[in-house]
Amino acid sequence: MTVTADSYRAAMRRHPAGVAVITMMADTGPVGFTATSLTSLSLDPPLVCFNITHTSSSIAALRRADTVLVHILGEHQCETARRFSRSAEHRFAEAGSWSLLSTGEPLLAGTLTWMRLSVQQLIPAGDSTLVIGGVLHVQCDSHDGSTPPPLIYHDGTFLRTMPLVDAG
Ligand SMILES: Cc1cc2nc3c(=O)[nH]c(=O)nc-3n(C[C@H](O)[C@H](O)[C@H](O)COP(=O)(O)O)c2cc1C
Repeated sequence: MTVTADSYRAAMRRHPAGVAVITMMADTGPVGFTATSLTSLSLDPPLVCFNITHTSSSIAALRRADTVLVHILGEHQCETARRFSRSAEHRFAEAGSWSLLSTGEPLLAGTLTWMRLSVQQLIPAGDSTLVIGGVLHVQCDSHDGSTPPPLIYHDGTFLRTMPLVDAG
């Protein structure tokens, strides 16, 4: 059976994923994009990976970046996820929506969970590049001591999680 782009997409639409925004600082200013490809890769040493498509307006900056920030979005950041997947010129346009860390990467306001990565390997694969990042810093903030509710992407829609009713 031939695997078409539509059939591949149809299967992947059924694979739910958490939503991240990757940011970095380029010579031209801040750059970033929404990504659901973030995956834990190794605990010792701590490594994560994500992929970036070669048509992305962020690819040139990523190829030059030594470090990036990974923002793991909460359900309160649906608008951020949309903004960073649409027109690049609007992503950092709103005053107060981001700030610069002392290490030089753009941090998105309202992000409770983020990691700073050193870009260790770029592995071209098909129409994308797999980026392997070493985790340099982890930030896990909380408003009330509990894990912040995550933003989920499934079947082309942003969702929040809901616990299954305990059968017991
Ligand atoms: C939910 C969602 C997840 C995405 N995940 C990725 C991803 O993992 N890697 C990637 O390169 N682009 C991903 N994209 C696409 C980028 O966010 C962005 O829309 C695309 O690169 C076009 O941006 P550009 O105009 O800056 O080129 C995703 C988009 C959405 C809406």
